[in-house]
Amino acid sequence: MTQEKTTVLEHRVFQGEYRLLKLAAPVIGPLVQPGQFVHLRVPRLENAVLRRPFSVFKADEEGLSILYATVGMGTEALTTVEVGEEVSLLGPLGTGFPRVGKNKIPVLVAGGYGNAALYLQAKNLPVKGVAFFGGRSAEDILCVDEFEALGWDVRVTTDDGSLGTKGLVTAALDPWLEEQGSGGRGQGAELFACGPNGMLKAVGDRALEKGFTAWLSMDRNMACGVGACLTCVIKRKTETGWEWARCCKDGPVFNAEEILWED
Ligand SMILES: Cc1cc2nc3c(=O)[nH]c(=O)nc-3n(C[C@H](O)[C@H](O)[C@H](O)COP(=O)(O)OP(=O)(O)OC[C@H]3O[C@@H](n4cnc5c(N)ncnc54)[C@H](O)[C@@H]3O)c2cc1C
Ligand code: FES
Repeated sequence: MTQEKTTVLEHRVFQGEYRLLKLAAPVIGPLVQPGQFVHLRVPRLENAVLRRPFSVFKADEEGLSILYATVGMGTEALTTVEVGEEVSLLGPLGTGFPRVGKNKIPVLVAGGYGNAALYLQAKNLPVKGVAFFGGRSAEDILCVDEFEALGWDVRVTTDDGSLGTKGLVTAALDPWLEEQGSGGRGQGAELFACGPNGMLKAVGDRALEKGFTAWLSMDRNMACGVGACLTCVIKRKTETGWEWARCCKDGPVFNAEEILWED
């Protein structure tokens, strides 16, 4: 983990409510693994000193990019950042997605910024499988062309039916999972998911029912981002009950089997 003063190379509306922020980060960029995130200090955000976590969308020797939506004070302030401005980053942080198991069909499931969080995994996996993208409407569905160009079979659902199948992402995932039968030993699908909590739980529950492994990237408010403050904890099952696990350090990616969901 490194702290780096980066410079904004590009900052523009990407699609719908999402913006693309590209940063020159020659130290952090080459170190990023799929599913990891950076903790970003938003310039000129005087009333809130905490950094904000963002998944790394793309990364290379020169730097990295994020895709973000405006939801509050920090991301609103981030929209004003200009090309050439300095942005402090901590990263790469967290435990990301593992490689896919031998002979497994990789399956990506994304909602919201999940498409960005899964892009590096989609690029790096040696085998390309099926990617299920869900959103409220067509403009929430990001990067379909890019995933298809990597060789993924992309299936889209939208709540309002403006693109793909009408309904939640599970409307497309369920029939596909049904076709696969049950996981058995060393065969079947392995799922990698990032999106809203409800979606993650639905994906995890379905995978476990079928005997498939699912890796879920959990979204929690984060203060320190490095495992020291415990603002980001979830309950992780143990042999005797449960323990606290930190999404910023032990996660954000967890095996669905480990997560003790709370109502
Ligand atoms: C590991 C990780 C990766 C992330 N990657 C991305 C990404 O690639 N793109 C993206 O757009 N967003 C991403 N997020 C979410 C992003 O960090 C929050 O949207 C951002 O911190 C909100 O800051 P804010 O100051 O604008 O909002 P605030 O003013 O802090 O909050 C606005 C509202 O959003 C809620 N909120 C704030 N932070 C979070 C959070 N982390 N999870 C759920 N609700 C929150 C608050 O409770 C409040 O209701 C990620 C979060 C995590 C934990
Ligand atoms: S954000 Fe501080 S421990 Fe995770």
